[in-house]
Amino acid sequence: MVLESLEEIPKIIQNSADILKKYTPATLPVEYINVNYQEDTLQDDSQHMQLKCSNLPYPFSATPVICGQIKDAQILYDGPIGSKIFIELTIDYGNEIDYRFNPGDTIGILVSNSVNDIEKVLSKILSVDTPEAICDISIKNGTAKKNPKLPQHVPIQSSPRAILRDCLDLRSVPKKLFLRSLAEYTADKDEKSVLLMLSSKEGTKLYNELILEKTRTFLDILDLFPSCIPTLSLLIEHLPRLKPRPYSIANSPLSDPSKVKLILSVLIENSGVATSFLTEKVTSFLENPEKTQQLSFYFRESNQFRFDYEKDSILIGIGCGISPFLGFLEHKDELMKEKTTKLGSTWLFVGSTCQDSAVHRDELLDYQITGVLDHLYESFSRDPDPECGEFKHVQDQLRINALEVVEQLTKKDTNLYVCADGTKISKSIEECIKECLMMSLECSDEEAILVIKEMRSAGRYKEDIWV
Ligand SMILES: Cc1cc2nc3c(=O)[nH]c(=O)nc-3n(C[C@H](O)[C@H](O)[C@H](O)COP(=O)(O)OP(=O)(O)OC[C@H]3O[C@@H](n4cnc5c(N)ncnc54)[C@H](O)[C@@H]3O)c2cc1C
Ligand SMILES: NC(=O)c1ccc[n+]([C@@H]2O[C@H](COP(=O)([O-])OP(=O)(O)OC[C@H]3O[C@@H](n4cnc5c(N)ncnc54)[C@H](OP(=O)(O)O)[C@@H]3O)[C@@H](O)[C@H]2O)c1
Repeated sequence: MVLESLEEIPKIIQNSADILKKYTPATLPVEYINVNYQEDTLQDDSQHMQLKCSNLPYPFSATPVICGQIKDAQILYDGPIGSKIFIELTIDYGNEIDYRFNPGDTIGILVSNSVNDIEKVLSKILSVDTPEAICDISIKNGTAKKNPKLPQHVPIQSSPRAILRDCLDLRSVPKKLFLRSLAEYTADKDEKSVLLMLSSKEGTKLYNELILEKTRTFLDILDLFPSCIPTLSLLIEHLPRLKPRPYSIANSPLSDPSKVKLILSVLIENSGVATSFLTEKVTSFLENPEKTQQLSFYFRESNQFRFDYEKDSILIGIGCGISPFLGFLEHKDELMKEKTTKLGSTWLFVGSTCQDSAVHRDELLDYQITGVLDHLYESFSRDPDPECGEFKHVQDQLRINALEVVEQLTKKDTNLYVCADGTKISKSIEECIKECLMMSLECSDEEAILVIKEMRSAGRYKEDIWV
């Protein structure tokens, strides 16, 4: 990025000569936050800094934030096919809370930025000599800002390092007004005029192309504009909260009510904030299991993606999207042992890159033998083994089994559960379900859409969408 960025400013200047001649920079936002540094350093920063904020809401929280410990972890898959690593992680929360989760529930994990990202920002902000110094955040005296409010997600006392670590989303895409403010802290004339121009009405098209479409983050801006040296207070004013990340629970409370199991999909290159943070925790745990690795998390409210085990279910999971279904199946397995509940049938469609990356494949095959699963339909998109069959994606399996699937789906009580990416895959699965309906019911596109719509409004088409 750095090399590329050094060449980019002259290119932008060359290509935007017309706009640069005449543009009106956005109005400069009024600064309103004061950061006061003390001589002492913050003695204990072990707690996540958002926990020091009063009245901070947590999205969809069903419980307060609790502290868990990594109890077990394993790398489920680490190549060679695909560009992702799959990790399983068990968090023990002991007696921290008396809360019974449901299969299909999710937790929100409080995450931190990576040391690299923090160091990069620390090396680029004004007047922070001691990143561990205690700093007090307050509203600037006499600020002209109307109704100035301190952000809820930054504690009124902490340290620059702790704020950058736990509170601010350093990888958020900067808004135009933030660029306008950053221009005031940019020494180089050319860089400054590009920032001003990007913040202007005339620069909207360029802002969309250069920033939004390329998802350039605040960290990228620091690379692109090396003479930009903002203050910590400006970052507190403009950077959004580092949000907790949701993860699906992959186990049943019946097997162990004080533990949650998660399955993480981690991009090998350019992994994100939470996945880097969690991978580092797991790596430290695996290197030294005796040393406690803590994670702060909360249970999120149950939604419609709840296992209705007494009814028939068709489950469709992509890659690690099998996660909540492992919880469903473990739950059904436990209930089958108890023999007290009448249980519905369960069909599972699962799509993986190859046999080795198929998460808990042996367990799924066993579930087929024990009857927990009535049908298991696998597909492998990139497995070189010819024995794997011709099904590359879950849609291939759905199409070939369309008659049975539709017969099952159109029974009044059957629930369909889909767990996949929301932008592309879940839509393409819905499209395939529609095709199956058209083919099997010999109906029109509109009629098939109506069937899906009715399933949705009856709460029988359930999706867990990972965005
Ligand atoms: C309800 C719900 C349940 C979820 N359950 C799980 C779960 O059980 N397991 C799980 O791994 N994730 C799950 N996710 C996704 C998870 O919340 C994070 O979004 C994900 O781990 C990436 O977070 P990050 O902070 O590392 O990436 P960010 O820093 O937020 O984003 C970086 C970019 O990389 C993309 N990205 C990062 N990792 C991947 C990946 N592996 N595949 C595709 N794109 C990726 C992001 O979409 C984004 O565009 C769930 C999401 C939701 C909404
Ligand atoms: N946004 C996030 O932060 C985030 C994080 C983690 C996971 N996810 C999503 O969660 C799901 C599981 O991810 P993962 O990393 O575990 O698995 P993955 O490795 O991304 O994908 C597993 C399988 O999905 C197949 N696939 C790709 N596009 C498809 C489509 N349109 N329809 C059906 N199958 C398709 C892949 O086939 P090919 O080999 O042909 O590509 C591959 O076999 C995915 O939907 C992923 O995008 C999102």
